[in-house]
Amino acid sequence: MNPHLRDVAIPNDWDRRGLPGWSYHSDALLELEKEHVFRNHWQIVGHVCDIPDAGDYLTMDVVGERALIVRGKDGVVRGFNNMCRHRGSRVVADSQGNCKNALVCPFHGWVYNLDGTLRGAARPRSFPDLDKTEFGLMPLDLEVWMGFIFVRFRNGGPQPSVAELMKPIEPEFSHYNAADMVPSWGIWTQKTPVNWKSVRDVDNEGYHVAMAHPALQDLYGATYFDEPFINGVSRSFATYNPHAGRRWSVKNYVKIAPEPTHLPDYLKKAWVYYGIFPNAVISVMPESVQFYQEFPLSTGETLLRGAIYRYRDESREQAAARYLSFRIDRDTMAEDVQLSVWSNESMLSEAFEGFYLSDLEYGVRTHHDHLRKMLPVLGLETAPEEKDMWNLNDALRSRS
Ligand code: FES
Ligand SMILES: [Fe+2]
Repeated sequence: MNPHLRDVAIPNDWDRRGLPGWSYHSDALLELEKEHVFRNHWQIVGHVCDIPDAGDYLTMDVVGERALIVRGKDGVVRGFNNMCRHRGSRVVADSQGNCKNALVCPFHGWVYNLDGTLRGAARPRSFPDLDKTEFGLMPLDLEVWMGFIFVRFRNGGPQPSVAELMKPIEPEFSHYNAADMVPSWGIWTQKTPVNWKSVRDVDNEGYHVAMAHPALQDLYGATYFDEPFINGVSRSFATYNPHAGRRWSVKNYVKIAPEPTHLPDYLKKAWVYYGIFPNAVISVMPESVQFYQEFPLSTGETLLRGAIYRYRDESREQAAARYLSFRIDRDTMAEDVQLSVWSNESMLSEAFEGFYLSDLEYGVRTHHDHLRKMLPVLGLETAPEEKDMWNLNDALRSRS
């Protein structure tokens, strides 16, 4: 079978420059990104299996917002702002846990039901006029797709539903039965000292695999190809080299991995990565499914976050393969961090003259195009004044 989902011809003549260097170091642009790219686009918080029981919760603090996901007594997964309606405290402090029957605010003790409604204030007689129905936790747009929990901090937004967004990849992805999976090692986070776009730029192309990722090159090398971002979704596909195994982890991985009978032939020895604009990837291997994403902490620091999920009834061989693929991935990530640092810091140099992208990096371009659509100031080669950024972007948006 043709492993391409969408045959995309790369134009003969395209603008091979990347985003302007200033956009990787501008505080004013970062505020625009939070507003027009992060808060109003779907963000993965985790997977339903991270919160299997009533009262289980997950939180995620990103771009100045705080998400709280709770499973109710009715089994329904709901999303809220993790913000007490009394004075704005976090309702739960940890990133993951169980709150039994209710959410009790640690500041003054207001109590919320697991469905977000306010059960009551502490010392209720001190609020003679409190209308409890008005003071429930503020809900977030939430959608579960194939087990993954997506939220949006701004209700509505430029994207369609997650189901609609992911339609092009759904037939393929559904082979992995991700909705029935369970956590491998939980949700991880890590900080990296670069602009979030530098992380994404590295991840959006496979041109660097041959040079920078010896283990990936050994495993799948030249079979790798990218399908660029179209309507917010990209896809990269690679299948194992027939002679993979020069490296210890790769050799054992291909040897130990059992035949994945649940997958069609063309996916049996494949790693596939689905990019989701602006900042996330869901990737699949025969023995696991994972997500990873990045959020800006400042112009020069990024939070990486992700998790790997496994089959509930996995065999020992599958578990060993999952561990080995994790090792290959972990090395790859460390290599990518270094590359992103070198590329990112160059943008502060006067000598930096922009990218000059290969046809094999067209995915980087299409991600930038999606960003330019939200943030037309990115079309400006010279940095605007920081104080003008917001108005200028609004003016350019209304013109387009
Ligand atoms: S801020 Fe939550 S009870 Fe006061
Ligand atoms: Fe990489």
